[in-house]
Amino acid sequence: MIAGKACGMSSARARNSHRPVSGGKRPDSQRKADPVTGTIYVLNGPNLNLLGKRQPEIYGHETLADVETACLSQAESYGLGVRFLQSNAEHQLIDWIHEAREDGAAIVINPGAFTHTSIAILDALNTFEGPVMEVHISNVHKREEFRRHSYVSLRADGVIAGCGTQGYLLAIDRVARLVAATN
Ligand code: DQA
Repeated sequence: MIAGKACGMSSARARNSHRPVSGGKRPDSQRKADPVTGTIYVLNGPNLNLLGKRQPEIYGHETLADVETACLSQAESYGLGVRFLQSNAEHQLIDWIHEAREDGAAIVINPGAFTHTSIAILDALNTFEGPVMEVHISNVHKREEFRRHSYVSLRADGVIAGCGTQGYLLAIDRVARLVAATN
């Protein structure tokens, strides 16, 4: 089950120090592997539990479990942990954002359809102090007009749309860099 599952780091953290996050302006030759610590909350909104089965022509064939595995390994390569969660309920996503206020270094969120409707999720994200990346698997700008507006974008530090599930990994790259810059 994905919802509520916490994903930790393993000893691969030590092995994967090949991709240091560089926050400073030192030349590569002098740059040290800045240790980055923390947990990225990867939050998924309604219907994303059906990823792989739901409109695969739009969202692809990968399942959310596949995305979780890829996110874990991407974050691990930066020394970061992941808490990968999905819910169809707005209040649950809000509760996890509140939890991230205490335990999260960054949030990557695909709010699903709540993107376009939820001021409550926007308000919750506004209480979070770390980096926030908004991800959409599909290119929401190429679809129905109502998908072009995002409440979440008013808070997000960056938005990735239309890159398929790779968007999650790009978002992890970005938050890892932003977290390193503030460490
Ligand atoms: C989505 C885009 C939303 O408009 C839609 O409601 C989703 C998924 C995406 O990942 O492309 O559920 O967030």
